[in-house]
Amino acid sequence: MNLLSDIKNLIEDGAKKGGYDDELTITFSDKPQICDFQCNGCFSLAKKYGKKPIDIAKDIVGNIKDNPQYKVEIVPPAFINITLTNEGLKNVANYMLKDTDGGLEKHKVSQKVLLDYGGANVAKALHIGHLRPAIIGESLKRLYRLLGDEVISDVHLGDWGLQMGLTELQLFEEGKLDYYFGESKQKRELTIDDLNEAYPLASKRKNQEEDFKQKAEQWTLFIQQKKQPYFDIYQDIRALSVKEIATNYKKLGAEFDLWEGESNASDYCEEALNIIKEKGLARESEGALVVDVAQEGENVPIQKNGETLYINPMPPCLIQKSNGGDLYATTDIATILKRNKTYKLDRIEYVTDARQKMHFIQVFRTCKMSGISPENQQLVHVVNGTMNGSDGKPFKTRSGDTIKLEDIIALLTNKAKDKLKSNGVNADDETALKIGVGAMKFGDLINTVSKDYLFDIDRFLSFEGKTGPYLQYTCVRINSILSRFNDGQGGEIDIYNDETRQVILAMLKLNSSYEICYREKSLNALCLSAYNLASAFSTFYNNHSVVNEKDTDKQNSYISLLKLIKKKMEQALNVLAIDIPQKM
Ligand code: ARG
Repeated sequence: MNLLSDIKNLIEDGAKKGGYDDELTITFSDKPQICDFQCNGCFSLAKKYGKKPIDIAKDIVGNIKDNPQYKVEIVPPAFINITLTNEGLKNVANYMLKDTDGGLEKHKVSQKVLLDYGGANVAKALHIGHLRPAIIGESLKRLYRLLGDEVISDVHLGDWGLQMGLTELQLFEEGKLDYYFGESKQKRELTIDDLNEAYPLASKRKNQEEDFKQKAEQWTLFIQQKKQPYFDIYQDIRALSVKEIATNYKKLGAEFDLWEGESNASDYCEEALNIIKEKGLARESEGALVVDVAQEGENVPIQKNGETLYINPMPPCLIQKSNGGDLYATTDIATILKRNKTYKLDRIEYVTDARQKMHFIQVFRTCKMSGISPENQQLVHVVNGTMNGSDGKPFKTRSGDTIKLEDIIALLTNKAKDKLKSNGVNADDETALKIGVGAMKFGDLINTVSKDYLFDIDRFLSFEGKTGPYLQYTCVRINSILSRFNDGQGGEIDIYNDETRQVILAMLKLNSSYEICYREKSLNALCLSAYNLASAFSTFYNNHSVVNEKDTDKQNSYISLLKLIKKKMEQALNVLAIDIPQKM
């Protein structure tokens, strides 16, 4: 069911009969106390046809037959206001109640999409920067699927870069890899603590000790060449790290179909490089291989104080290191090649922060120029803003370190627990996790994806206002009311009062917000509409008792209304990947 397009057809039909064969836009009313929908198209038609706007409105509305569903009126100077009659609203509500998707219209054409989000790096702890891509990516996946796309999600682990060589070398120097090099008979199993200690140390040393850095680069190359024992060690480290990563993603509710990574593209790197070379796109630069991707007006050199600067910088894409090693761009290009050999994809989308903007432009252009990505395939980078602390800078610990994802999840869970305790509820860990993580997710997704936002844990965890817990609480409340009735209870929804009317309209708006989110690749419209529905429900419930209603028809109508709200809220929270606790 697409109410907006039904109304559009109705109005356009009237316009056509009145002599205007034009497309008209219908929106939800910005004055809901006056009407439900509006069409402001008469003003532009007036310009086009050289007539008075009001005359055009009269031509259009005069040609619309009286209709039991809608009341169509002209309001000066020339607005067309549309209101659903009680009859119309009742039909819509009962249709939503019966329909499996609650009246949500799926896309007629389904696209096959590969969604690349998560991006955790093996051997490094997941940090706060990985939080947003996981939250946003998971919701986009669920949104696309709900609207009918076929989506494959891939965590695309960072598992082929210098951090591998750095970690191995550090562990080796700590004497923890003797077994692999035949210097000890006893295998010392590596632990996650070994990794958590080794990488930060190695990363620091890389910047201070040139020898160490060069050796780590050499070891990275050995791993990429699958040389032993370097590759065996790598596989053990990878397996250990992936287990830890999976635990954290599970807590966040991020579910991936594919647990692949940069390393899975390694068998395709050579082929990708050959394609690029055969197309004559590769050029040598200081021993490395690069592709010039700058377009007209980009990367224009200018001289300033004896230095060359570039206007609209777009450096070439580095596709092979001078030592023959693979780079981040190489594995991303090879991954696109691999994906396109495996699936027929309409779109490939990546969720990361803005620091990777340039990288993806370079990779996408190289793939398009070389034909590795077919012309009709969309390659999209969904850029997320950063989560900032109260100082307006990316959120850090008090000592200025990047926060580990694990720690932030623990913080959210503990805070949720305290909060519940102060409300007199003793929550178990699972409930506290649902509320803490739910609060974080809603606090994130209510912002436009591309914008930065402030991490404000107390505001996120509030049980009132535009927060995750408020929405969860709404569901818990509805479930508790419905538990007083039998499953079979309920009847046809009727419009008994304005509060019922507002709830149904809020559900219609919620339905239409999915399409906005799909178009904008941002979940904020859905968050807002779900909140509006929760508060419309609250107004309804504050004014009408369902349990004590004496009139059976009315009570049955209310029960069904609540069931419908429950269905719509659960659908929305499911897309936002926010779990609903049993009680709170
Ligand atoms: N591992 C990367 C990081 O931590 C993110 C990976 C994003 N996906 C990709 N195909 N490059 O920044």
